[in-house]
Amino acid sequence: MSSHDNPLVRFSAFWWGIGVILLFFVVLLVTRFFVGGGDAPDPLEESARKVRLKTLAEVEAAQKANLAPKVIEEGSIVQLHPQGVFEHLGGQLVGSTPTKVDDPAWVVPGSAAAEELAAAGGEVDLAAVDALTPEAGTAPDPAVMEKGQQLYMVCMACHGANGEGGPVGPPLAGADWVAGPVSNLIRIQMRGLQGPLVVSGKEYNFPAPMAPMGAAQSDADVAAVLTYIRNSFGNSAPPVLPEQVEMLRSEIGKPMLTQGDLIPVAPGS
Ligand code: HEC
Repeated sequence: MSSHDNPLVRFSAFWWGIGVILLFFVVLLVTRFFVGGGDAPDPLEESARKVRLKTLAEVEAAQKANLAPKVIEEGSIVQLHPQGVFEHLGGQLVGSTPTKVDDPAWVVPGSAAAEELAAAGGEVDLAAVDALTPEAGTAPDPAVMEKGQQLYMVCMACHGANGEGGPVGPPLAGADWVAGPVSNLIRIQMRGLQGPLVVSGKEYNFPAPMAPMGAAQSDADVAAVLTYIRNSFGNSAPPVLPEQVEMLRSEIGKPMLTQGDLIPVAPGS
């Protein structure tokens, strides 16, 4: 007969089971009684609760004083009314350090960085750029002319559909500057042009300068639009090469040109 079927063995196993469960509860009660009586708060939980209560008290006090709500940051309290926000953002801006700009395209014309760049860059050899101009009579590439015509759309607003000029831009048709040294034309695209200007013997004084427009365009595009104006509106002059534009990329970011900065094209210009 196996022990499972023995009534005596089964009876004592039952009481052993009950005994072990009772013992477990006794141990549990005793430990709870000795270790802090059960209601003792967790120290971590308690300190977190204190911070919450303090924050709550501050917010309530602020509301009572009829102040704007506050944003509580690490160690500092920022008032959430407009002035406070601006003070906060202003502080962050003032505290941030500017990064040095190396790409000439990002330099603000006329800024200290632009002057520094102009001083460090040295003068470009304009004669070397103009020496690359193809000889007189060289016909422009028709594909380049077509591209230049499209790009001229931007210039049209100020210089007129047929380069005739208008109230905000001088004429390009028959203009001595357009037929003159290529370096002038490229530099005008890279740096812009301002102040009184004599074009083909006539003095102009426009309300707004010509903005630098070449910085965002490729060498080929600048060359194409300049080749186009040199061979349209009755003008005829050798094409402008992308290599010539590339040689004058370092002009970007330098102060705007005035007539005196250009290679003269006529006596008194
Ligand atoms: C927002 C108007 C405006 C636009 C757009 C403009 N220009 Fe000008 N441009 C001027 C003004 C103004 C001057 C004269 C600057 C001065 O008075 O010193 C000028 C001068 C020039 C000159 C030298 C003077 C002359 O008549 O020959 C050339 C060349 C020239 N621009 C070419 C261009 C080309 C090419 C474009 C298009 C890529 C262009 N401009 C777009 C306003 C503009």
